[in-house]
Amino acid sequence: MSKIAPQIIPLELGDKSYDVVVAYDLREHLHEHLASLNKGQKWVVLTQQVIYDLYRDVIDELTTNGFDLSVIIVPGDEGAKNISFAEQVWTQMVELGCDRSSVLLALGGGVVGDLGGFVAATYMRGIPFVQIPTTLLAMIDSAIGGKTAVNLSAGKNLVGAIYQPKAVLIDPGFLATLPRRNVISSLGEAIKYGFIRDASIFDTIENNFEEMVSLENESLLSEIISKSCRIKCNIVSNDQFETGERKLLNFGHTIGHAFETIQEYGGLYHGEAVLYGMKCACFISHKKGLLSSKELDRSLALLNRFPLPELGAVPPDRILEIVAHDKKNVNGKLSFILIDSIGNGVINTEVSADDILESLSAIN
Ligand SMILES: NC(=O)c1ccc[n+]([C@@H]2O[C@H](COP(=O)([O-])OP(=O)(O)OC[C@H]3O[C@@H](n4cnc5c(N)ncnc54)[C@H](O)[C@@H]3O)[C@@H](O)[C@H]2O)c1
Ligand SMILES: [Zn+2]
Repeated sequence: MSKIAPQIIPLELGDKSYDVVVAYDLREHLHEHLASLNKGQKWVVLTQQVIYDLYRDVIDELTTNGFDLSVIIVPGDEGAKNISFAEQVWTQMVELGCDRSSVLLALGGGVVGDLGGFVAATYMRGIPFVQIPTTLLAMIDSAIGGKTAVNLSAGKNLVGAIYQPKAVLIDPGFLATLPRRNVISSLGEAIKYGFIRDASIFDTIENNFEEMVSLENESLLSEIISKSCRIKCNIVSNDQFETGERKLLNFGHTIGHAFETIQEYGGLYHGEAVLYGMKCACFISHKKGLLSSKELDRSLALLNRFPLPELGAVPPDRILEIVAHDKKNVNGKLSFILIDSIGNGVINTEVSADDILESLSAIN
């Protein structure tokens, strides 16, 4: 039993409000957290083989406690966020007898959460779903806020819906089996919160880099998870449909998505692409006169400590082409999220193609 007290972080969204619960032993009595949703209907756990093999006991705990539950497995990589897998899951759910009252549990990282949320949003025009994130990225970011999506070959997350879960149940204990590369990738999103909203997150990662990467320190990890969740809940509650403040969460993502798309979703993890993208966004923030040289140096120094895979060829024309399709662009003008200091993001800054191309010098 962990000494760290459980936290309940409310996400206020009127009749779509829900709680984000962070507790170390949560997965040992999941049925208690889900009891209020269980009316004897059919439940589906959407997950991946590696997670199923590691955490079958979590699923068994629900079955033992009276849940009528089936498991659907999708591939273990970003390729699962694809409309053809959504169709396979819809079809399996029909075969399993799922109806409008059925509940979908997304047990996994951002891929399972995004696909599961999309399937839940669309199956019979929407069924309840619950996020049980198993990666750090999903715990601090993707499981919260209702963004669901699948990818197209033309770009990431181009088809989806904003559809809120009924609850987000976070047990940091799942992270014990997470490969180091995924931890590093996930910390990219944590640093993002440091850049756009809370410099103390940046400071904590800067001052405890090795401990953070090895996830050895439970209290530091809890601090980062709960601070990140609180920021995400606060921003989503203020701007669920991303007309303003929520755009801040895209810091580092515009060019990051372009890197991911170029690599056809196979070569780079999402958070790695965002770490690269934040180097470019910091560079542009400085070039536009927003971020001081001192803070640019400090930002790049921390970002450069993360071991990242080689990017390979980055064709400038292709980057510009992908950035031009970004959902954040306004009236055909390239619009970026930048920072004017570590801890304060700025939305809707117009940038030029030259700004973007020059910023690529920051990625080596
Ligand atoms: N919806 C949003 O708001 C949002 C925000 C950020 C990112 N995303 C999306 O999230 C996705 C990336 O998510 P991710 O970084 O969680 O990666 P992921 O879901 O691909 O998981 C990484 C790998 O780790 C495995 N895994 C998961 N949990 C594990 C555990 N506890 N132990 C061992 N292995 C485990 C998975 O099977 C997978 O192979 C991207 O598709 C990105 O677009 C969505
Ligand atoms: Zn992201």
